[in-house]
Amino acid sequence: MAVGSVLVTGGTGYIGSFTALALLEADYKVVIVDNLYNSSEEVVNRIELICGKRPAFYNVDITDEAGLDKVFDDHPDIDNVIHFAALKAVGESAEIPLEYYRVNVYGSICLLRSMTKHNVTNIVFSSSATVYGDATRFPNMIPIPEHCPIGPTNTYGRTKSTVELVITDHIEAQRNNAKKQGQSGELWNAALLRYFNPAGAHPSGVMGENPLGVPYNLLPLLAQVAIGKREKLLVFGDDYESKDGTAIRDYIHVLDLAKGHLVALNYLREHHPGVRAWNLGTGKGSTVFDMIKAFSVAVGRELPYQVVGRRTGDVLDLTANPTLANTELKWKTELTLEDACRDLWEWTKNNPEGYNQSPPKEFVDE
Ligand code: NAD
Ligand code: WQD
Repeated sequence: MAVGSVLVTGGTGYIGSFTALALLEADYKVVIVDNLYNSSEEVVNRIELICGKRPAFYNVDITDEAGLDKVFDDHPDIDNVIHFAALKAVGESAEIPLEYYRVNVYGSICLLRSMTKHNVTNIVFSSSATVYGDATRFPNMIPIPEHCPIGPTNTYGRTKSTVELVITDHIEAQRNNAKKQGQSGELWNAALLRYFNPAGAHPSGVMGENPLGVPYNLLPLLAQVAIGKREKLLVFGDDYESKDGTAIRDYIHVLDLAKGHLVALNYLREHHPGVRAWNLGTGKGSTVFDMIKAFSVAVGRELPYQVVGRRTGDVLDLTANPTLANTELKWKTELTLEDACRDLWEWTKNNPEGYNQSPPKEFVDE
């Protein structure tokens, strides 16, 4: 019997698909809602290929509250939500802010309303390290702890910090309302998970980040250089105050990140903490040059790059202090940067066109 049932919004996306897999492997039932804006339904097949279990899938937009209501009506056993669905391109968010607020903020409100109507009281939310903005403005806050002041520097980040506030206010209101009615209210809980830089793919090479469209992030771009879709990597600045002049980030393997969702959900169910924010990162910073070296080792040859000027909005250092998640959730990352690079390369070699092609034959034959 399933240990619980989880609605995963954005569950065919990169991090959502790995979390759906981790949930199924831990005997949760999974219902995915995604409008396929940035993903493919083929992901559902790949999840089943890996774990032998198939999540339910609904092509529903999170801003369609009636559509969400129908999913909850169809699955009255859903007792938890993990909410990934969002638009996530920082640059684009400055060009079409209203669309980012509509999908990310209004979509989250629709989801919370639909959850409330159906008495679903646990939510795990995909927040981001981007809510901290430039934490280097507080010299004693690197690596970044959860109590670092929030101060996003871009529209995308402001949609994430806004949703954190919306969830916090809603959960607190629901707890208070329950108390007024003589109930404990402790069933209402939320985890705000602030991810650092997700990286890697499934070691089987059948599931990873869909490389269609123009990537924005470092590792998908490096993968395109390695596969010959891009001539070289442009390194955005080598004049930062780091060991080699390039900017520092905390790259976390997507399998470790997915497990973080599982333990956060279990923590909500067991400890009823109300609203809690946790950083999900390794605590180890790597520079852009470190990443080029590590991925070159995985690929087996040096990858070409050219140093250009800094990218607007970039900051020197975004490294997590993951102590709270380590101690409270008893979670810590187990996989290394080398694992992430190896797995990303395996995925890229096997799926140069992403999910628009059949899974690797040798995997299907097993
Ligand atoms: P992704 O784009 O791969 O996944 C997001 C999914 O949401 C996609 O499958 C997309 O089709 C779906 N979606 C978008 N709009 C929707 C809508 N209106 N209705 C229903 N579904 C919709 O992105 P990801 O990297 O897996 O990110 C997942 C979450 O994690 C997002 O909330 C993102 O903001 C957050 N996050 C990502 C990163 C990162 O670097 N990848 C870092 C921190 C936080
Ligand atoms: C990493 C480093 C770049 C591309 C972004 C979002 C953040 C979160 C994760 C969602 C930086 C450098 C990159 C390139 C480069 N997403 N770089 N050449 O900017 O840390 O975070 O994704 O929540 O909100 O802002 O990730 O992968 O884009 O960049 O030199 O072609 O690689 O300057 O130092 P970032 P990234």
